[in-house]
Amino acid sequence: MVDLIEKKRDGQELSTEEIQFIINGYTDGSIPDYQVSALTMAIFFKGMTEKERADLTMAMVKSGDQIDLSKIEGIKVDKHSTGGVGDTTTLVLGPLVAAVGVPVAKMSGRGLGHTGGTIDKLEAVSGFHVEIDNEEFIQLVNKNKIAVIGQSGNLTPADKKLYALRDVTATVDSIPLIASSIMSKKIAAGADAIVLDVKTGAGAFMKTLDDSRELAKAMVQIGNNVGRNTMAVISDMSQPLGFAIGNALEVQEAIDTLKGEGPEDLTELCLTLGSHMVYLAKKAETLKEARALLEGAIKDGSALESFKVFLSSQGGDASVVDDVTKLPQAKFKIELEAKEDGYVSEIVADEIGTAAMLLGAGRATKESQIDLAVGLVLRKKIGDKVQKGDSLLTIHSNFEDVSEVKDILYSNIRLAKDAIEAPVLIHEEITE
Ligand code: URA
Ligand code: CA
Repeated sequence: MVDLIEKKRDGQELSTEEIQFIINGYTDGSIPDYQVSALTMAIFFKGMTEKERADLTMAMVKSGDQIDLSKIEGIKVDKHSTGGVGDTTTLVLGPLVAAVGVPVAKMSGRGLGHTGGTIDKLEAVSGFHVEIDNEEFIQLVNKNKIAVIGQSGNLTPADKKLYALRDVTATVDSIPLIASSIMSKKIAAGADAIVLDVKTGAGAFMKTLDDSRELAKAMVQIGNNVGRNTMAVISDMSQPLGFAIGNALEVQEAIDTLKGEGPEDLTELCLTLGSHMVYLAKKAETLKEARALLEGAIKDGSALESFKVFLSSQGGDASVVDDVTKLPQAKFKIELEAKEDGYVSEIVADEIGTAAMLLGAGRATKESQIDLAVGLVLRKKIGDKVQKGDSLLTIHSNFEDVSEVKDILYSNIRLAKDAIEAPVLIHEEITE
């Protein structure tokens, strides 16, 4: 291991076998944290070649279980988002692409953050559960084209250990390490093809377009080098996506969007990501044709029907789709009124997310309880004209005194005197 650290420190390329040796040894505990810390710091400064990145990804994939989706007919395309605020895309995309025949075999988690994960959000639908076994999961996907199962125990243990170590050694922010970490999880979960939504801006993991592009390229390269057709969309996260931030609120937003009545930005991003999923699943010859299929599924109601079938197949009360008041409702709905005239110039996504978390929409620690009913619904987005007294957003809370939340919101929704353009939603699409 000392020789390998030295090799990387001096900027040389590690071989496939050497990377495999490191990951095996780290996973089984025979290589200690302090040596791997030194190695990750060397990687931070010296980087990794294209071949090393692919080797690291596959070594981490092989460190644990790999999900076998071969009994599911068709090309399994997974979508991954690098994380944002109020990102309702997964809830919309699943039923939407399933409606045109793309199999969606989604493994999802809860996790920490501004809102719950996809599973928490779906549990806002009474009765819905993801405690199904693998066999039922596969049957459901074959029958309905969509099912969601909770994350199984032992996926990419090497990544878990390495990520935790990077977190305390200032080596998270390394493009090759981030890219292989994310890709290893998608590949272990059984995806044949992968569509990545790399967010950029204040609410994103990558704050600048240059960094986002570099990460997107790194992940696309890894996917294609290990035989998974992969592409990435770089999308805006300078403000929250859509209007809703919160669990039940986002389910409601997803229902609106599947009906064709959703927020413009969320709808457009879902159509863009969805078109790439349909294309990679070979359900359309061109992106244009793929998009037309998805638009058709929204228009003729089949996307909404697919959501209903999905919910009821996993125990959920699908009648919420026709009556959203059956979703958990917060006791208090409080408007945040603009204090002056102007144009919305900034909605600092991550701070808005923090405000939603304070209301109880997300988990600060693993032990926190989520309140599925609460959250925020934006009434204005960047570029919108505002008059004093207009509602900037609605706070959905189960406690009456929201003054602390209001303070955060006021300092993070900024108004300007002069008109301002809405931000570009889709910056780039990266296919190789
Ligand atoms: N997310 C991951 O899954 N891995 C990283 O390394 C960084 C963000
Ligand atoms: Ca949203």
